[in-house]
Amino acid sequence: MSRFDTETAARARALIALYPRPRSALIPLCHLAQEQDGWLAPEAMEEIAELVGVTPAEVRGTASFYDMLHTEPVGRYLVSICTNIACLLGGAEELLEHAEAALGVRAGGTTADGTITLEDAECLADCDGTPCVTVNHRYVGGLSAEGFDRLVEDLRAGRRDDEIPPHGTLVRVRRKGGLSVQRDRIVAERAATAEAQAERARIAKEAAEAQAGAPGAAEQKGGA
Ligand code: FES
Repeated sequence: MSRFDTETAARARALIALYPRPRSALIPLCHLAQEQDGWLAPEAMEEIAELVGVTPAEVRGTASFYDMLHTEPVGRYLVSICTNIACLLGGAEELLEHAEAALGVRAGGTTADGTITLEDAECLADCDGTPCVTVNHRYVGGLSAEGFDRLVEDLRAGRRDDEIPPHGTLVRVRRKGGLSVQRDRIVAERAATAEAQAERARIAKEAAEAQAGAPGAAEQKGGA
């Protein structure tokens, strides 16, 4: 029996069809499974392996390399606090300590009610709003301890659900036309690129030849 529900299974088939080789869909399928369950369960990794023709160990090896893919259960909200240098100088260590005490878990842990997983993150690319915090990869700004407590209250009450979907959701609005591109368009674009490269090479060659033949070029070469 499939680990994926009907809609997810259909999306998995559509994703695999986008690529010349099924294994190229491995990471998109990991995100898909994570969107369904909030994390990558062992059974989901086994099913992905079967779908793309690799071993479950290869799926796990790939998934465990990337921060955004989780091979352990994650709460509905993954709260990430950046402790890289700019945020460290902006009070990230203190905020992380506060968060651990407020939630009753160490970084990497999940609250007993399964709502929040706390994460100590590397640079989250919003270094001018320190200490930077994200929830399910959505920025919630640089937070004080009080701001963090308000955020947790809001999350638990579901007051931020319009802006922050459950963990694993990459997007809530999907392209209607899918992602496939006609093969003849790819061939035409590759031909146009090759033509443009050849033209650039021809212009560069002419410029080099003109420079070599310019008055004074021989003296410059001789004097060098
Ligand atoms: S150092 Fe924290 S977001 Fe860049």
